Amino acid sequence: MTEFTYRDGSLRCDDISIPDIVREVGTPVYVYSGSAIRGAFAALDAALAGSRHTLHYALKANSTLAILRLLRRLGAHADANSGGEIEVARRAGFDPAEIVFTGVGKTRDELELAVALGVKAINIESDGEARRIDDLARARGVRARVALRVNPDIDPNTHAHISTGQRFNKFGVPIEHAPLLLREMARRPGLDVVGLHVHLGSQIVEMEPLARAAQALAGLAREARDIGLTLRHLDLGGGLGISYDGAPAPDPARYAAAIAPIVEATGLDLLLEPGRCLVGPAGILVGRIADVKCYPGSPRFMVLDTGMTELVRPALYGAYHRMEAVTPRAGDQQVYEVVGPLCETSDTLGHERRFGPVEVGDEIAIFDAGAYGIAMASNYNRRRMPAEVLVDQGRWEIIRRRQSYDDLMRLES
Ligand code: LLP
Repeated sequence: MTEFTYRDGSLRCDDISIPDIVREVGTPVYVYSGSAIRGAFAALDAALAGSRHTLHYALKANSTLAILRLLRRLGAHADANSGGEIEVARRAGFDPAEIVFTGVGKTRDELELAVALGVKAINIESDGEARRIDDLARARGVRARVALRVNPDIDPNTHAHISTGQRFNKFGVPIEHAPLLLREMARRPGLDVVGLHVHLGSQIVEMEPLARAAQALAGLAREARDIGLTLRHLDLGGGLGISYDGAPAPDPARYAAAIAPIVEATGLDLLLEPGRCLVGPAGILVGRIADVKCYPGSPRFMVLDTGMTELVRPALYGAYHRMEAVTPRAGDQQVYEVVGPLCETSDTLGHERRFGPVEVGDEIAIFDAGAYGIAMASNYNRRRMPAEVLVDQGRWEIIRRRQSYDDLMRLES
């Protein structure tokens, strides 16, 4: 994405100066580019233009209200993974008929909510869940729209923590068990079986496993027809990866070419649940250098005022995020361990990173932080949730103010 560029010596977002934003809002702060989100949505939507499709944005990637409202205006529907995500989707204006509800371990309250609202589909994870939804729907005298999530036992070649479609993962029902369960679901009066669902994992950069999962689902759809079910859609989940290191990112057109014809051949609608590829490259996290320390025999540390509380991905997955000074100085480069302020050695944001001359107080931008950044942030060490800013159409606005210390303790006696 080219939405973050340097001009007149400093980093800009959609041509708005990052130092200007930071002067008013402080650090740490997430800054999002509206044009990057618009561009990513349009690219994926255009790549799929040849087939009947709906993009259900995976809220878990970033569910800040203003981001949801923007995606909704662009034509996105929603993929919610909890009662809280259903609620935030509704407050952002999504209609229940635009929401699919996914997730292993849905509680009775969450299922009640989804059945009462009449969401577009509840993605069923097990025999037991099918039974529970049937009971709830019949008690209300309605039929709940459901899809069956299958586990196709396919390795998507991504980080083990975010790989979900193999036999030993907790997600979905084994695909060979699915025909039996579909037969049983067809007999339940409280269930309207409208689709099949698969999600292989996240940050997937090879198209072949995604195509294989689509094939598996299409094959199962044919069996479902033989059982007498009238499905409406195949939901292939999310997972399209982005480039974190500057190498070319997987191309939406190649992604569409790998999966769309397979779904088209079934005559069913294609649903996708993209998260990361829509918002990941659109966000940066800006922190400030709090200290620099260097002693003989130890690495040179750049200590920021932001760390694993705002962006946990490096600590949790060993994830790589590019980083640069917001206003770089000319001069020789040095190698730094870029660390956060938390009392954990895992609070390392970057290993052996090169920077020109830096001083305490300088701002550092951490790139590709729009997905699974703020959404996974925490109050560990009693740190306050950071502010978030959206730059869109020539202006910027604070879309979440920084938490105050009062906010931090509000719920406690
Ligand atoms: N649909 C389902 C059922 C999912 O579980 C997920 C992600 C998505 C869609 C969206 O996948 P995406 O398009 O964003 O890859 N915290 C991790 C990622 C966890 C992904 C969980 N599920 C990270 O920071 O890498």
